[in-house]
Amino acid sequence: MLSPTAAFHCSELSFGSKLHIASIALRDRVLRMPLGLAYTPQELQAEAGEWHLAVHDGSALFAVLLLRKTIPDHCEVLKMRQVAVDTPLQGKGIGARLVRFAEDVAREQGCRRIELHAREQAVPFYRKLGYSTEGEWFEEVGLPHLAMYRNL
Ligand SMILES: CC(C)(COP(=O)(O)OP(=O)(O)OC[C@H]1O[C@@H](n2cnc3c(N)ncnc32)[C@H](O)[C@@H]1OP(=O)(O)O)[C@@H](O)C(=O)NCCC(=O)NCCS
Repeated sequence: MLSPTAAFHCSELSFGSKLHIASIALRDRVLRMPLGLAYTPQELQAEAGEWHLAVHDGSALFAVLLLRKTIPDHCEVLKMRQVAVDTPLQGKGIGARLVRFAEDVAREQGCRRIELHAREQAVPFYRKLGYSTEGEWFEEVGLPHLAMYRNL
């Protein structure tokens, strides 16, 4: 786990800010390039209405995730997606810290349930954080996934 005195903190990123641009680079490195995929400008622009939450030290970005409304103008059920911790920093408690922060942000918005599509390798991580699986395996970005959720 991270030391409680570590100079990392969690916050929402402003769309178009330097940290937001850095978060796209991190997501590309961790989630897309290993699969031979890339984000399109249209995909990235469509994220303008989402919450971009990150762990950073003010200048360097260490982890990111997005929260998206599943129904326009309603926050009761949010989808958590694009969860990525920079590769050398994985396994140090940063992902767990960011998910808990996202849950706090979601609660403040009136959210009662968070849903997500978990890659097979990430299912144990979400289970540890209290998320349950739902339904059968399906494929996304060429990888097996399970739907998971947590009621807040
Ligand atoms: C999955 C990911 C977000 C987890 O973040 P992380 O910072 O590495 O995980 P943490 O260190 O916060 O782990 C929290 C707990 O989950 C456990 N855990 C994390 N990944 C695990 C795994 N693959 N298998 C089993 N347990 C795991 C940790 O051991 C830890 O348990 P503990 O509290 O008992 O020590 C991160 O590893 C990552 O970005 N992976 C690559 C991209 C990815 O798969 N994203 C998810 C897409 S759905």
